[in-house]
Amino acid sequence: MKSFIENEEKYIKEKMAECGFEVEEVTLNISSRPEFGDYQYNGAMALAKKYGKNPREIATEIVECIKKDNKYKDINIAGPGFINITFSDEELIKHVNDLNENINLNYQTENPKKIFMDYGGANVAKALHVGHLRSANIGEALKRLAVSLGNEAIADAHLGDWGRPIGLVMLEIKKRNPELPYFDESFEGEYPEVSPVTNDDLMELYPYASNKAKEDESYMEEARVITAKFQDGDKGLMALWHHIMNVSKTDIKRIYDRLNTTFEVWEGESDGNKYIPEMIEYLEEKNIVEDSQGARIITVAESNDDHEVPPLLLVKSNGSASYETTDLACIWERMKLFNPNEIWYLTDARQALHFEQVFRAARKSEIVNENTKLEFIPFGTMNGADGKPFKTRDGGVMTLEALLDLAKLECEKKILPNITGEERDSIAGLVSVAAVKYADLIPFRLTDYNFDPVKFSDLQGKTGPYLLYSTIRMKSLLKKAEEANIEYSTFTTMNSSIERDIIICMLNLRSVLTKSINTKSLNDITEYLYKITNLYNNFYSNNHVLTEENKELQASWLTLTKVVYENNLKLLNILGIEVPERM
Ligand code: ARG
Repeated sequence: MKSFIENEEKYIKEKMAECGFEVEEVTLNISSRPEFGDYQYNGAMALAKKYGKNPREIATEIVECIKKDNKYKDINIAGPGFINITFSDEELIKHVNDLNENINLNYQTENPKKIFMDYGGANVAKALHVGHLRSANIGEALKRLAVSLGNEAIADAHLGDWGRPIGLVMLEIKKRNPELPYFDESFEGEYPEVSPVTNDDLMELYPYASNKAKEDESYMEEARVITAKFQDGDKGLMALWHHIMNVSKTDIKRIYDRLNTTFEVWEGESDGNKYIPEMIEYLEEKNIVEDSQGARIITVAESNDDHEVPPLLLVKSNGSASYETTDLACIWERMKLFNPNEIWYLTDARQALHFEQVFRAARKSEIVNENTKLEFIPFGTMNGADGKPFKTRDGGVMTLEALLDLAKLECEKKILPNITGEERDSIAGLVSVAAVKYADLIPFRLTDYNFDPVKFSDLQGKTGPYLLYSTIRMKSLLKKAEEANIEYSTFTTMNSSIERDIIICMLNLRSVLTKSINTKSLNDITEYLYKITNLYNNFYSNNHVLTEENKELQASWLTLTKVVYENNLKLLNILGIEVPERM
């Protein structure tokens, strides 16, 4: 079904055709001057060129033509030929009732695609850190947006499960417990079922081993050796790898759950790596791999490059695969298993060159076909309150969990005092995730921002908690109406311009969603939610819905409240924000 605005566009196009104006499409834009109209049609300028007339003359002819039906409350011309349209109240009233029947009218789109998404990237045996926050927030929201618009999306956690960090951890386990069977090459029995390490152990082991390797070259060499050995499939080390994977994955899942971030598949770098031999065979056959000082490389520079794009290092001189090779192999795997129309990658902007090399190699080698789009969706960094890279008080890396705890501590202070115990804790969790996510999605994706838990948890202003609080208030109004047995089912009365503004804002949603999916940034949605919530709150404080004596008006108000409430719920859900019962 077409949206309200699409129907209007279609109508105007038909009217224009009746009057002899052939246009491919009519696009209505949100009015930049609401005092002149709700929407604008700016096609007169292009038509003026086509018909060799001046734009104002054309605009006048179009307006005369459309006016005949008396469909609109007002239609006028401004400036050189902008046509301003004000919809009739009857049409807007009908739209509220349509939305009341089916809120999805605001969402659907054409040409559904299958999109594969890569926004996890957590590293096994290491704590998720603040750098993983934005990919999770933006990626999850883009996935939900894409799905709301009718696409199919498959997100992969894409764990970093095959690199040196795991080798470092294994080495340190070996140093501390050399007697474990995983390190005994002559061991023939069954390896223990219980992991020799817990997640807390890993959290201590990795930083220790990583620091030690930085100071001690022979330790680093041992780590290289053990890494190569498990990557080569050593039986004992693989058994240990499985333990580390299980323990770590459970904890990674717990934190992604806390962040309301979900993945359809839980693959890792190791899964892509299984395809490396067959992929290399294919690439060699294609004759695009060259030798370079014992390494195998693929040239990806192009003649019109304005920056240096080094060759992709396919096989290092020591025989191992690079980060680029792993990503290329993952594309190979994803094409084979999922054959998506698009693959989206979310990492911070510093990985731009990496993906440029990988994408070029994938195209050059035809690992992806022409119809599959590879898209890198970079984002800016989140810094500490001082604008510098985020650190703990003692200068260490801030884990994602510690950051969420900081936000939770602040949000907990904002919750009603009569909410206690477990409920208080769980609500503080939901509110803090709303605070963190909303603040993360406010700036345009590429813009850096500073983490400020006090500001983010404020109940006033552009914050997640403000939106939750307002949305809960809508819900509680509806609940009170139900408890008072107030019947309502339709919107019939446009009482004031406040209601009208809310409805026009609802109409604008489609263009907001479209812009958001095109820019792959959520800032228009966060802005929109703030705007409609403010409009509604203005309406709420001006009207006493529950005590209103005019029953028709009361029913209209409740219907409008329900539509705005459901709309807010849907949009918050797109952002990955859950609304608690109370707060
Ligand atoms: N594990 C990487 C990191 O922590 C991120 C992986 C991003 N995704 C990818 N396909 N390379 O930096």
